[in-house]
Amino acid sequence: MKILIACEESQTVCEAFRAKGHEAYSCDILPTSGKHPEWHIQGDALTEAYSGKYEMMIAHPPCTYLSVAGAGYLYPKSILNRERYLKGAEAKDFFMKLLNAPIEKICVENPLPFKIFELPPYTQIIHPYHFGEPFMKRTCLWLKNLQALKHTNIVKGEPTSKSPWYNKGGKDRQKNRSKFWKGISDGMAEQWS
Ligand SMILES: C[S@@+](CC[C@H](N)C(=O)[O-])C[C@H]1O[C@@H](n2cnc3c(N)ncnc32)[C@H](O)[C@@H]1O
Repeated sequence: MKILIACEESQTVCEAFRAKGHEAYSCDILPTSGKHPEWHIQGDALTEAYSGKYEMMIAHPPCTYLSVAGAGYLYPKSILNRERYLKGAEAKDFFMKLLNAPIEKICVENPLPFKIFELPPYTQIIHPYHFGEPFMKRTCLWLKNLQALKHTNIVKGEPTSKSPWYNKGGKDRQKNRSKFWKGISDGMAEQWS
């Protein structure tokens, strides 16, 4: 299948689908930090998503202004921060354009969204520890024409809520924090191939 991995600079999902023999491409406004620049399209994900070239898309749109984890910034001292709200509305518009792209099979991935933005209901919630990685990170999937992911390997014990690269500082701090999970990527490639 020809597959677009939208908003992905790390190539984690792209590599998992390539390993299953698919023609997958990562696409991000940033250059890739992955090993295969020849599989990377540096540019706007919406242009690719509406190009008519792809049979499947997995998208990781920016979540900074949509996530419920940012509640403290949206309502500092219980008053709505209008500037931040407008950024959230813009992020929702991008999210919805990806979800409504003319591609048969779609998965959009994001953290739990803030209710005020009224995103459509997600299909399922997963954590990395359902897929062999000892971390807890609530991840919502919005699916179209794809089966809900089955857990592949539930890690026993108390999972930590932070990935090993979460607290790395420096210029790549934001990028490191939003890297996707190999265990989940492998589960997607295995179950959606
Ligand atoms: C939450 S991060 C997802 C990163 C991804 N999980 C990974 O492992 O690479 C969102 C990404 O969307 C990218 N992005 C933002 N606007 C974009 C656009 N219009 N087209 C393509 N990528 C975009 C950002 O550069 C960022 O890498």
